[in-house]
Amino acid sequence: MAKRPLIETAVFPVAGRGTRFLPATKASPKEMLPVVDKPLIQYAVEEALAAGARRLVFITGASKRAIEDHFDSDQELEKLLESQGKSDLVQQLHSVLPSYATCIYIRQPAPLGLGHAVLCARPAVGNEPFFVHLADDLIDADVPCLEQMAQVYDAKRASVIGCEVVPRSETDKYGIVEVEGKDATTSRVRSIVEKPKPADAPSNLAVVGRYLLAPSIFQHLEQIGKGAGGEIQLTDGIARLMREEAVYAYKFEGKRYDCGSKLGYLQATVAYALSHEQLGRPFRSHLLELAGSLRRQKAPGAATARKRKPTRARRAG
Ligand code: UTP
Repeated sequence: MAKRPLIETAVFPVAGRGTRFLPATKASPKEMLPVVDKPLIQYAVEEALAAGARRLVFITGASKRAIEDHFDSDQELEKLLESQGKSDLVQQLHSVLPSYATCIYIRQPAPLGLGHAVLCARPAVGNEPFFVHLADDLIDADVPCLEQMAQVYDAKRASVIGCEVVPRSETDKYGIVEVEGKDATTSRVRSIVEKPKPADAPSNLAVVGRYLLAPSIFQHLEQIGKGAGGEIQLTDGIARLMREEAVYAYKFEGKRYDCGSKLGYLQATVAYALSHEQLGRPFRSHLLELAGSLRRQKAPGAATARKRKPTRARRAG
């Protein structure tokens, strides 16, 4: 197969306030929440690098400094680990970011919406197609989701948005697309609307946190005003883009976890822990034991749901 052209830039909008995950996200970024032993933003970067991206553009905001620190080298820590003979840990630190990758940080002055965040990336992206990756949508896939989308781009030479069928009752949480061929894996988008009520939704095919966009999106984002929720919506920019060029919806292969929600985050943690090289086996034994004791309880879930008396440590604050 001929080598596809590289999509060199990946944009990571990380300026949202993560209100669904308060209070954990009050002072620390939700993208730094670890799933087992890596923060969400590192999974995001690894996926983009695996798809060929080399320029990593982070759109940051208030309380997001930890993301910059994570991808920066920490000479002091490395020296300390070396002096303790822990060179395996030093290797792990080095693997956080390969030397061929460049990080660019752009501050979004206020969380004005995902569309605005993407527009902030314009000076770093230039006139090339680019990935947009929302780190709180963690996708476990054999072929990384962005790589799957790059292959679709190669065939279609048009913008591609990552999509998933969701329960109709949940359409008001997503951008929803109506497509030409309902059953096809890749299909041209006819219309796109942000967070429609289930009764008004044109379908239940939802946009999730993966996009491969033509640079012409920027001129449309510049022109749209506030949309749903009083924010500048990427969905509205894509709706305008579609008037001029084709946009494709792609139903990716893989399992998505909504790590911006507490339940989705817990589900991801369990799934990733079970497939972890060192932790998988002991964690599985623990879960089986736990499942056994949950089954033996008279009222399922009673022990976990019951308010526990505060322990001494918690009383002491
Ligand atoms: P969300 O809709 O998940 O919002 O944003 P949020 O603020 O992160 O989280 P909740 O809903 O309040 O819990 C989708 C993505 O867009 C980014 C977020 O960081 C997230 O990756 N975003 C959103 C921005 O970068 N800037 C914005 O102004 C809004």
